[in-house]
Amino acid sequence: MKLFLDTANVEQVKEIAAWGVLDGVTTNPSLVAKEGNDFEKTVMAMCKLVPCVSAQVTATQFDDMVMQGKEYASWHKHVVVKVPMTTEGLKAIHHFSQHNIKTNTTLVFSVPQAILAAKAGATMISPFIGRLDDIGEKGILLIADIMEVWKHNAFKTEVLVASTRHPEHIVDAAKLGAHICTIPYEVFKKLPMHPLTDAGLEKFLSDWKKITKN
Ligand code: E4P
Repeated sequence: MKLFLDTANVEQVKEIAAWGVLDGVTTNPSLVAKEGNDFEKTVMAMCKLVPCVSAQVTATQFDDMVMQGKEYASWHKHVVVKVPMTTEGLKAIHHFSQHNIKTNTTLVFSVPQAILAAKAGATMISPFIGRLDDIGEKGILLIADIMEVWKHNAFKTEVLVASTRHPEHIVDAAKLGAHICTIPYEVFKKLPMHPLTDAGLEKFLSDWKKITKN
């Protein structure tokens, strides 16, 4: 499973990319607004660090989506145009797929939406699991259903598990065979941690000090 960082903060991308585990970045308008930096410069800086950076169109009509997406794609070959799951979005995804522009369909909350985006030619789809949990549903069940459908169909579209909130989401996504998981910075930082690793290392180092003192 590929691991993406869900952020618009270049420093965070630098930090996690240095671990050698980062396959890409997803941004969205809310994350970009939170950082308040120039969008093009942010995307360009990230493209130098990772091979796949999702940049979301804010246009809602086909023609404008295509214009905006083409501009993003012209910035760098690592850009993936993120398109919302609407009927205008489906038309744009189809158009981009015919022009060899990679897309990530965002705001996917159901299996029919996932199937339509795949048929339109999306490179990846982003089902949001945390937001389903937030309204009392089990978001991970959507991933299980989508992966089941993918098993029986020849879709090339990658399933990118989005809106993750804790390490268990990442483990569950991996167990279900999802292709990609995008992870917020705070959650990513929790992944390498284990109290027994810390305690074990402390003991190894203190024992080593005892013999090196002599
Ligand atoms: C990523 O592509 C999504 O925009 C993001 O994971 C949404 O996460 P949120 O539900 O925590 O805002």
